[in-house]
Amino acid sequence: MPKTGEPKLVRLNINEVDHDVVVEPRWTLSYVLRERLGLTGTKQACGNGECGNCTVLIDGKPVLSCLTLAIESAGKKILTIEGLAKGDKLHPIQQAFVDKHAIACGHCTPAMILTAYALLQSRRSPTEEEVKRAISGVLCRCTGYVKINDAILAAAETMRKGDKNA
Ligand code: FES
Ligand code: FES
Repeated sequence: MPKTGEPKLVRLNINEVDHDVVVEPRWTLSYVLRERLGLTGTKQACGNGECGNCTVLIDGKPVLSCLTLAIESAGKKILTIEGLAKGDKLHPIQQAFVDKHAIACGHCTPAMILTAYALLQSRRSPTEEEVKRAISGVLCRCTGYVKINDAILAAAETMRKGDKNA
């Protein structure tokens, strides 16, 4: 990435861990996550806001990390797919994606799961339509939407039953 502006030291809180990183003002969050911090679970495809595959959560809300500057993410709580499992135990949404065979190439999967996580924090019993609407900004080139919807609805049920990892 070309150098632009004076680098600044920022503190990024990612998955509840503070990272002090020197960033250039134009560096995107996806670039810093992947190329500076090695958090390659965040995917990048189009790089211009069209595919949603770079989605992470900032303060609980899905954002496109390819359109978000790292510098403006300082002081906020960033959640990436690496922060969801507890040790060896997958989060119920991750487990449901495995159980329902909702993963093909896996490129959209982190964004799908984080988007579902944000939805299920506010809607414990979403309808199928609400799930479809929530993930409509994340494109799956493998066209696995039916299984993805099934997985999210199954995860919602597991979480309602009180899975401690939710
Ligand atoms: S990589 Fe960010 S929207 Fe496509
Ligand atoms: S599983 Fe391949 S892009 Fe969705």
